[in-house]
Amino acid sequence: MIPESFKQDLLNRVDIVDVVSRYVQLKKGGANFMGLCPFHTEKSPSFTVSPAKQFYHCFGCGQHGNAIGFLMAYAGMGYVDAVKDLAAGAGLTVPEDTSRQRPKEERDREQDLYALMERAMEFYRAELKKSDKAIAYLKGRGLSGEIAARFRIGYAPDDWQGLKGAFADYDNRALVDAGLVIATEGKRYDRFRDRVMFPILNARGATIGFGGRVMGEGEPKYLNSPETALFEKGRELYGLVQAREAMRNSSRVLVVEGYMDVVALAQFGVGNAVATLGTATTPTHVGKLLRLAEEIVFCFDGDAAGRKAAWRALEVSLPLALDHKPLRFLFLPEGDDPDSYVRNHGKEAFERLAGESQTLSGFLLGELRADNDLATPEGRSRFLAAAKPHLEKIAAKGFRLQLVKEVAQLAHVSQDEAEQLLGMRSTSTYKHPAPARVQASPPPSLESKLLRVLLIQPKLTAELDLELFDQNLPEGRAVAALAVRCRISESGESLTQAGLIEAFANSPHAESLNRARASLLEIEMSEEVAAQEFRQIHIQRRIERIDQELPRLSGVELARRLQEQAELKNQRA
Ligand code: CTP
Ligand code: MN
Repeated sequence: MIPESFKQDLLNRVDIVDVVSRYVQLKKGGANFMGLCPFHTEKSPSFTVSPAKQFYHCFGCGQHGNAIGFLMAYAGMGYVDAVKDLAAGAGLTVPEDTSRQRPKEERDREQDLYALMERAMEFYRAELKKSDKAIAYLKGRGLSGEIAARFRIGYAPDDWQGLKGAFADYDNRALVDAGLVIATEGKRYDRFRDRVMFPILNARGATIGFGGRVMGEGEPKYLNSPETALFEKGRELYGLVQAREAMRNSSRVLVVEGYMDVVALAQFGVGNAVATLGTATTPTHVGKLLRLAEEIVFCFDGDAAGRKAAWRALEVSLPLALDHKPLRFLFLPEGDDPDSYVRNHGKEAFERLAGESQTLSGFLLGELRADNDLATPEGRSRFLAAAKPHLEKIAAKGFRLQLVKEVAQLAHVSQDEAEQLLGMRSTSTYKHPAPARVQASPPPSLESKLLRVLLIQPKLTAELDLELFDQNLPEGRAVAALAVRCRISESGESLTQAGLIEAFANSPHAESLNRARASLLEIEMSEEVAAQEFRQIHIQRRIERIDQELPRLSGVELARRLQEQAELKNQRA
């Protein structure tokens, strides 16, 4: 664990503009710097870096964070590596944690699942260095040490309680919550034992889960983390952080099925691959990838199971497909997966396959034709009927029009007739399902306003009436955590906004705090105004509370509360 004070010191010394400029071309625009966002594809810059706030934010895709977060998300570094990298640049040395007895504060932070997962990941990596068997296994599969390090591959030792080597308090409940330890009938043991470990990182580069592979025979071949507070399988893509740069360079992303496929492709120079995590392709996956690349190529095995999975990916993609971003389907020869194919035939051959792969329309029409005999009128009308539900799902106008034309031609009808039959009168009166939803954001809750104000003026936590705020909202919980934190440090150092954000970087509150900070990029609020708003938020909430109580009150009590409320309303600005 890296001491908190060191991180604060480090963040005071580095300039986020220098850090980001190493990777992204920035231009000065007013108080901030602007550039093309490295986290999604865009033609005009919406990526903003604020030197005053030492924070970056993309108004296009919503990614944001500080210098440490940038290195994690962009360069694929783990938390510890990102801190070391920054420290090296600033001429500082990261103090090593030498004692097993860490201060209580740090032990408390282990409750934070992110910190815990990072620690487990580093532990498994260290164990890999000690295991000849695991090293031999990875070498046998053709992986270099460099690639193993890039994907943070590790090894879970053959030990029922191996994680005791990383966590002195093995009984900590959080280890169970993180999916690392299994607890049954008073016994506790490691979920992952004697397996090669593939950490799963989120888009910000934080470890959120693991996949563990047996090295010989044995079931299951892959054991995955359960879904936890941090890890939801249908949202995550394995290898995303590592693929980012290659994805941008090639404008294309390959979606494969396995951990080893991603890693082997990277080993052979195909860096732009990601994998779904033992689940079918979800709309979330497709939506994420469409923001990140110009073209998606889904790769599947050539067997029946592969075609079925591909069909499912197609169905999910139809409503999301965009006119200007092709989706393609690559079927590998029977018996091959991307790992074996690239190993046997090399990078060029694999990329040729990807380049020549079937388009979404080709795959769709091919499957529909295979089921219906276009040589007979019966077959052709069935073909039209089968095409209908798929065409209806497509939201992209141009793409849909092209497909209608193709379908009409194959069914020997005119475009008009096809549109009649398909229930689409004319091209100009299509009823389109709403395209990619633009979410009208609800007005910010009082809790999120409060959080913003506290970031500007942390001292105000001393006057906070926590009772009034909703702990069911993430912002409400973040406010409570800030309050506790500020009380602890009352004695000593003054807390800066950047310091607070960093103190919570590995906590469940990180997202709320980052959102609050991002919204502050557009607002200049003085400490005075912040203090006023702080009071107004309390008044507003007290008025609301009384409103809720009124139906249950009567007589004197009712009169008294109404009087109180009237006074509060007078104080309202
Ligand atoms: N998978 C899983 N659980 C299993 C088997 C597979 O979660 N019991 C998921 C894993 O994400 C795995 C992917 O499905 O990476 C593909 O599985 P499979 O094709 O069986 O494995 P390969 O990727 O070919 O793995 P390897 O080459 O190591 O055998
Ligand atoms: Mn394989």
